[in-house]
Amino acid sequence: MKFFVDTADTQDIKALAKAGLIDGVTTNPTLIKKSGRDFRDVILEICALIDGPVSAEVTSLAADGMIKEGRTLAKLAPNVTVKLPLTVDGLAACRELSSSGIQTNVTLCFSANQALLAAKAGATFISPFVGRLDDIHIDGMSLIEDIRTIYDNYNLQTEILVASIRSPNHIKESALVGADVATAPPKVIWSLSEHPLTKSGLDTFMKDWAETGQAAV
Ligand code: G3P
Repeated sequence: MKFFVDTADTQDIKALAKAGLIDGVTTNPTLIKKSGRDFRDVILEICALIDGPVSAEVTSLAADGMIKEGRTLAKLAPNVTVKLPLTVDGLAACRELSSSGIQTNVTLCFSANQALLAAKAGATFISPFVGRLDDIHIDGMSLIEDIRTIYDNYNLQTEILVASIRSPNHIKESALVGADVATAPPKVIWSLSEHPLTKSGLDTFMKDWAETGQAAV
């Protein structure tokens, strides 16, 4: 499973990329607002930091506007993935952009039928939001299982990009059900390597090593 980081903070992206922990980046208008930066500038900088897909979201609501924005965004860098909302207009724009070879990510997916429509529209990625479903007491992860089954039934190539991840458990569950990608905030990705027994075990090894009086080879 690939890991994308869900942020527009270039310092976080740099650190995660340096550690080799990420394969791509996802952004949305809320994350751009949080960065306090110009949309184009930040997308250009992120695309230069990382080889993998970088999702940049359109803000028009009509298909024509989305297509125009999508073509402009795709020209910024070869690794831009155009992010489109799961609406009838978003699906029409997805079909048009995908058929001209532009990578697309259909976002704000909350049902298996929506995911089926996105795949039929040729989306490169579908982004189901697990955390926001959990927030309203609907099991987000069972949506991922349903999408996996449907896509496998029909050999649909759209990649399942699990979004709105809030915890390391969401990542483990995404991997268990066979999601293609998980996008998560930086702190969730960093926390994946942590375990109290790893920490205490390493503390003991270091203490015992120091007591041998030997230098590192
Ligand atoms: O990029 C979309 C997404 O991951 C949103 O997450 O936590 O705002 O529901 P959240």
